Amino acid sequence: METRADAVAAAVEIGELEPTALSDADAGALAEVANAAEAVDAPFRAPVDAAYVRRGHLYGHDMQPTHGLLVARDGERIVAYAELHISVWDNADVLFVEIEEHPKYRDRGIDDRLLEQALERARAEGRTNVLGSAWLESHRLTFWERQGFPVVTRDANRRLVLADLDRPKLAQMLADAEAASTDYELVDVPNPSPDDLLASLMAVHNAINDAPLDDLDIEDDAWPAERVKAYEQAMTARGMRMHRLLARRTSDGAAAGHTVVVVEEDRPRIGAQEDTAVIREHRGHRLGIRLKIAMLDRLAELEPQLDYIDTWNAESNTHMVAVNDAIGCFVVARGHEVQKRI
Ligand SMILES: CC(C)(COP(=O)(O)OP(=O)(O)OC[C@H]1O[C@@H](n2cnc3c(N)ncnc32)[C@H](O)[C@@H]1OP(=O)(O)O)[C@@H](O)C(=O)NCCC(=O)NCCS
Repeated sequence: METRADAVAAAVEIGELEPTALSDADAGALAEVANAAEAVDAPFRAPVDAAYVRRGHLYGHDMQPTHGLLVARDGERIVAYAELHISVWDNADVLFVEIEEHPKYRDRGIDDRLLEQALERARAEGRTNVLGSAWLESHRLTFWERQGFPVVTRDANRRLVLADLDRPKLAQMLADAEAASTDYELVDVPNPSPDDLLASLMAVHNAINDAPLDDLDIEDDAWPAERVKAYEQAMTARGMRMHRLLARRTSDGAAAGHTVVVVEEDRPRIGAQEDTAVIREHRGHRLGIRLKIAMLDRLAELEPQLDYIDTWNAESNTHMVAVNDAIGCFVVARGHEVQKRI
């Protein structure tokens, strides 16, 4: 017997949108689906709006627009979507697929149809290494399991609530970290960065490749000069104020590490922790903690309205997690990455 849900699923049509030319209405509809889904799966996340969604698709993380955008419509209404993301800098075989459904449209196989089309496209383009993600114990995780995508790494969303920081304790920790890294200085890097820092920034971006991947089977990220520049441009184009501190050895100017926090102009109470990394040969001088506490001091001055900063770490990244826990981060949610070769 056909149920009402089956009938709705059959009536839903899958189409495609051009990610670089979204209308206000379509961007708003995508935001609505994302917000409705997150209200169920991740209620601690702030809602997004049409402008945020449009800029995200247009500029990505480094001026690379979203690769493909499949949408499921019930009549005129967008009720689910699949975003397809690639990197043009590395991992030529990887396609990252992010699927969201409006909660009222779940369990009708719309996500299966979206994934089927995404995989067709992946095969056509030779992208045989397909990745996805899901919150822990979520509807999406069950979906990936059903689709035969095993979990390859577990991560956590940690949050730092700035009003709750123990500032005197942080000041003491910063003094201890400075004492352990006396041959290093921290340099404030503007966006756009000056060309004479380009080689240093390439080196510190590249250090992220030492973050543990667990069973995630991907190649290293590549950080050529164009990507460093494109990343900075994308943050500006997306309305993100970028704060970056670079650590370098005073004696020879060698780049040692960096940390980046971005604050959205439209939602200035929310900060996002981008990379923190210390190049291997410079580790063990507490530079990670020094960079992060110095960043908090800087943000207190430049972004006094900031309420919290969110960060993501692999559960197995004991060194980064130790730094984050020491400064006062707490876990708001856990997530999983999934992967399948097709
Ligand atoms: C997280 C990170 C910045 C910490 O570096 P750091 O500030 O130099 O670390 P610390 O000075 O606190 O190191 C404490 C000890 O752990 C060791 N250590 C730090 N990171 C290490 C790593 N990734 N692997 C092995 N040992 C490490 C140090 O050598 C030091 O050992 P010691 O006490 O015997 O001298 C660094 O591990 C890193 O850059 N990792 C790769 C990038 C990354 O994972 N970024 C976060 C992504 S979410």
